[in-house]
Amino acid sequence: MKMKKGKIREFLKSLKFQLILLCIFVGAVSGLVLRVGILSSYEKRAVSMKSIDILSQAKILANQIVDAGYVQDTSSETITAQLEQLSQIYDGRVMIIDASFRIIRDTYDLDSDKIIISEEVIKSFDGNGKEISNYDSKNHYIEMTIPLVVTKEDTETETEQPWVIGIMLVSVSTDEIETNLEYLRSRALILQIVVILLLFAAGVWVSVRMTRPLKRMAKSLDELRNGYGETDGTLMIDDYTETLEVSEKLNKLYARMKMLDDSRQEFVSNVSHELKTPLTSMKVLADSLNGQDDVPVELYREFMQDIGNEIERETKIINDLLSLVKMDKSASDLNITSVNINEMLGQILKRLRPIAERAHIELVLESFRPVTAEIDEVKLTLAITNLIENGIKYNKRDGWVHISLNADHQYFYVKVEDSGIGIPKDAIEHIYERFYRVDKSHSREIGGTGLGLAITRNAILMHRGAIKVFSTEDEGTVFTVRIPLNYIA
Ligand SMILES: Nc1ncnc2c1ncn2[C@@H]1O[C@H](COP(=O)(O)OP(=O)(O)O)[C@@H](O)[C@H]1O
Ligand SMILES: [Mg+2]
Repeated sequence: MKMKKGKIREFLKSLKFQLILLCIFVGAVSGLVLRVGILSSYEKRAVSMKSIDILSQAKILANQIVDAGYVQDTSSETITAQLEQLSQIYDGRVMIIDASFRIIRDTYDLDSDKIIISEEVIKSFDGNGKEISNYDSKNHYIEMTIPLVVTKEDTETETEQPWVIGIMLVSVSTDEIETNLEYLRSRALILQIVVILLLFAAGVWVSVRMTRPLKRMAKSLDELRNGYGETDGTLMIDDYTETLEVSEKLNKLYARMKMLDDSRQEFVSNVSHELKTPLTSMKVLADSLNGQDDVPVELYREFMQDIGNEIERETKIINDLLSLVKMDKSASDLNITSVNINEMLGQILKRLRPIAERAHIELVLESFRPVTAEIDEVKLTLAITNLIENGIKYNKRDGWVHISLNADHQYFYVKVEDSGIGIPKDAIEHIYERFYRVDKSHSREIGGTGLGLAITRNAILMHRGAIKVFSTEDEGTVFTVRIPLNYIA
């Protein structure tokens, strides 16, 4: 039962259902508007046609009535017959009323000789010879008053105004218009139901068609997810511009995911290789000691020394890896404090000086101004240390490393310049890659892991800074680092 409810809710939320609903809605509303509009304009037009028709007939008769002096004397057989005829043709009632509001002739013979005082009649006597026509849509009849007017030509009197001597009152039933309307109404309703059904069918068709590419997209994505190898990783749903756009975006995302996955795999294989190398060396050293019977103490000592070095190296790699993993985490792990950068650099140099001295390298720090910045001191110390360490390691005998610190209102800049061996042009773009070393054996000899610059770069990027390198082989290398003074979250 619960399952079913979820399914229904899912369907109600679906694009399919919304499209069908839209179609039905459009059909219903447009049908309703058309129906009401057409029917009401039909009614207006039918009534007005009928009114004009009757009015023209009645006016002719009204003239004859005036000419025949029927208002004064109702004995004229022809006029009476014509009145009867008019009444019969239009299925209505005709009354002639004289100036004293007396009904002198009624084709229904109901109210003859009675006095009639209705609004229309009074208006008609006042209203300078104009006909009045009223449609009573509720009771379905049209009522018309036609004044019987004596004009100048008819009399010799000098009256300017037309003289109303009586009123012809015609009321006609509009039942037949109403019957037509009823008929049209039922017809229109049927039509509208048919249209809605057709639109429903169209809605189902359109919705199925429109959602088909989305279904295909979902299926392709499923295939992609089930394994990188199976498909070539390209989605091409080009039914609509929009689906094409989404396909392209997804392809880009997929390419990036693949790249990340590839680099992750490469990293893992690199890590295992790097970790295995010292172990292999130790194994070889140990085996060769074990394989000999009378090993001199000096050899033991020498080999044990080598094993110790390999352990040290293994430790260094693991430490660097741990640093790198820490840097890979999100920037929210930064421990930001306000740090005096001059002091920080002084500390770093103090720690590195013994190493530099051993390698006969001169270390010089030049501070152009006092700098305080919001940074993670531990991480940035590591980054700068790596740069200076490289400057010392990849240097020549009696070389130098110059470190300078400067700042403007937005950033501070650390420059590490050395007189070392430099980096070949084609290697420059790789130096930030994990485990990359220009000269593996040389780097190994001097204790490099190939992780230093990767750590440095990550730490700087976490601070939303930038790092640049310029190098000339056999002349030296310059690293410039730019870090915002205020931490940007
Ligand atoms: N100052 C420099 N002078 C010359 N080569 C450098 C310098 N800094 C880095 N490199 C090259 O870039 C490689 C990567 O550096 P890094 O990531 O720090 O690894 P490593 O552990 O070898 O120092 C080094 O092995 C070295 O070949
Ligand atoms: Mg290094």
